[in-house]
Amino acid sequence: VKMKLWQLQKHRVLLLLLLIALCQESHGKSVLESLDTVSSILHDVVKLAEYVQTAVNAFDGDHNTTAVSWEEESEKKNALMQFKEISRAINETQQQNFQYAMAAKESLEHFIGDNIPLMLQMLDITKTVDAISARYDEMLTYQTRKQKLEADTLVSFAHWVALPNEHSIEHQLKRLHTAVFGQLPFYSHGRDNATTICFLSLMTESYQLSTHKRCSLLLSPQQFVYALYMDIAITELKGYTMLEFSLMTLRLLGKGNFNEEIQLMRHNYAQRTAHAVSSLRAIMQRADRRVWRCDPDKHVHNATYDEVTRLLQGYVENEVDLNNDQSCGQTCPDYSATSSKGCYKQEFCSKQQQCQGDIYDCQFVDSDMRLCQSPTGSSRRYEFIEYENGVLFGRRQSCGRDTNAVESWRRWIFYNCHYCFCLCDEPKHRSDRYFNLRASVSDVEENRVVTGVRFVKHNRVFHLQIQQGQLLPRGVINASTVAWKPVDNYLISQSQVARNVDYHIMDYRNRGLNLDEVTMTDDKAFVVTGVKFRVSNNRLNLQVQFTKFNFEQGLLMQPKNTSVWQVKRYTTSFRQKLNLENLDVPTRATLKSVSSRDNQYLEFVNTGRSQDAAQTTVPFIDIQEVVSAQPLPLAGIGIYHKGSSGYGGFVAPKIINYDFTPHIRVPTQIS
Ligand SMILES: *[C@@H]1O[C@H](CO)[C@@H](O)[C@H](O)[C@H]1NC(C)=O
Ligand SMILES: *[C@@H]1O[C@H](CO)[C@@H](O)[C@H](O)[C@H]1NC(C)=O
Ligand SMILES: *[C@@H]1O[C@H](CO)[C@@H](O)[C@H](O)[C@H]1NC(C)=O
Ligand SMILES: *[C@@H]1O[C@H](CO)[C@@H](O)[C@H](O)[C@H]1NC(C)=O
Ligand SMILES: *[C@@H]1O[C@H](CO)[C@@H](O)[C@H](O)[C@H]1NC(C)=O
Ligand SMILES: *[C@@H]1O[C@H](CO)[C@@H](O)[C@H](O)[C@H]1NC(C)=O
Repeated sequence: VKMKLWQLQKHRVLLLLLLIALCQESHGKSVLESLDTVSSILHDVVKLAEYVQTAVNAFDGDHNTTAVSWEEESEKKNALMQFKEISRAINETQQQNFQYAMAAKESLEHFIGDNIPLMLQMLDITKTVDAISARYDEMLTYQTRKQKLEADTLVSFAHWVALPNEHSIEHQLKRLHTAVFGQLPFYSHGRDNATTICFLSLMTESYQLSTHKRCSLLLSPQQFVYALYMDIAITELKGYTMLEFSLMTLRLLGKGNFNEEIQLMRHNYAQRTAHAVSSLRAIMQRADRRVWRCDPDKHVHNATYDEVTRLLQGYVENEVDLNNDQSCGQTCPDYSATSSKGCYKQEFCSKQQQCQGDIYDCQFVDSDMRLCQSPTGSSRRYEFIEYENGVLFGRRQSCGRDTNAVESWRRWIFYNCHYCFCLCDEPKHRSDRYFNLRASVSDVEENRVVTGVRFVKHNRVFHLQIQQGQLLPRGVINASTVAWKPVDNYLISQSQVARNVDYHIMDYRNRGLNLDEVTMTDDKAFVVTGVKFRVSNNRLNLQVQFTKFNFEQGLLMQPKNTSVWQVKRYTTSFRQKLNLENLDVPTRATLKSVSSRDNQYLEFVNTGRSQDAAQTTVPFIDIQEVVSAQPLPLAGIGIYHKGSSGYGGFVAPKIINYDFTPHIRVPTQIS
């Protein structure tokens, strides 16, 4: 009796210790609280497996010699208490991954499509996962009914789970592993490469290719494979936990010693985990980390896109007003760069708004025309122009205002005073052509990093706005802190606000934009903390600020000399120009957009004459927010162009997620 009391005491102490261990982590948070996001799920799965082992070993140590009957010592049922704690932590981990795993799994069905072998493999995996989970849920019900539970019930369950037979959990786990990762290599120590062509990698590659699925899920392929793997890893953890507890139950109730079984089972689990994690690592290394937005279902001004307006715009003017002498002695193409000099004899020039800027690239189309002017307040000048020879500029429609009959005239017999079709570059109040040059930087002092970007037009100026969030240990972002940092609220009319310092203004000669992806090559010690534009070679150029950080602690390094501004560097200085001449208004496109390549640039330009009477400035600016479904630190930011053939398209940002691969390590703790 004395012996037993002592054991009981020791038992209680151990239980207490275990509970403390379960509820504490190095940072003073509970295990449950720290189960946050991407990087730490794997971390937590590993930790939980360790806890399971610790718990079981503690019981074993305590009950090494005496096996006592179930009725005698109800304290034994505390084995099930332990299971409760751990199962709660497992459930918590699963919940964290749940929505991403669901999204990833649902999307699988789209691109497996008619690949029957893959489909069958997928069904097989699902079946095995369900079988293990069902068994696990059954064990959970024992836990809740533990007061009424018969020892025999528990023993037969434990036998069923743990002892070799074709329904045993061990067998199911092997099956699952082979289906997902392929055969376990004999020599495996995380360095084999045969396994990289497995179900998981095929899935990831298919996902990577299905661009329209990606831009709607907003998970990069690296996040995608991680979420899928975690679903499997959690299932394996459930199986492992059941095995440990079942073998422990059998031992406790004197059904054998099972030392061999335990060692073998742990060895197998460790081998499978090492193999799985090294495969995951290899797949993640190859997986793309970019996130961008799809075309919206419907293009809505000021919600999904905005425009640079009246940068270069089709403009009808008579030759007589294009020179200082009121002469008609030349031809339209002679006026390649001029301005409006007056309004001769109150002709058509008195019925339209004069171009108060520079006039470029005049051409002759036909002498006489019918012209429909746009409503006042519109950023267009004309709806359409119909020339007498049948040529139509823009889309013919009913005209809100009266159409103007515009007719060239003859001066003496020699000269024709023709109407020319030119481009007007008028930097006035209806022309929004400004880009912010001030830096947008996250609150580094408060350990905030950039998690997303979007374009906004604010006070007529385009800004690349940043979304920021608090960085936590192991690359996790504190989701409740994620917010858009307000853009600088200045007006270009303010006296202290200066051109070329605070903002850039586009015109005929300065209207370029480089299409780049800015990253820090091969440096995993930095995350994005800011963006800005600079002008070089008359073109806007994206610059990204990177700040050094400590991955394990999740701390940005202070002071600020650990930050650098980076631009895209190419081995070749040659950039190709994206041709956007003679295109239609982007929102009229019916086909899906296709993205530009890197190392290109574009120039903002008027739409085509016949499509749109050259009234609109393209490309448009996509203002949809670009963030991951699950906020992550960034390794880079890019600007690209997307459009469908024949249309001016959109300029949009994209983000490149931080690369977690170097931090995916094969666990060494599990024996
Ligand atoms: C359990 O007992 C065996 C022999 O009966 C002994 O070798 C082993 O060290 C004991 N384990 C613990 C943890 O006390
Ligand atoms: C898991 O947690 C969720 C909520 O976090 C809860 O609704 C669910 O019942 C839990 N499942 C189990 C088996 O404990
Ligand atoms: C895989 O390993 C073989 C030799 O074992 C090697 O020849 C091959 O290049 C490796 N493949 C990759 C993708 O690393
Ligand atoms: C654009 O949308 C924002 C918010 O949705 C609104 O505050 C603003 O007035 C809108 N601007 C225009 C020009 O409609
Ligand atoms: C996450 O942010 C919330 C709100 O700011 C804060 O209360 C909480 O302490 C943060 N979590 C961590 C782990 O820092
Ligand atoms: C940053 O500044 C600190 C002190 O101001 C200095 O010790 C450190 O060497 C600097 N680091 C770099 C990379 O310049």
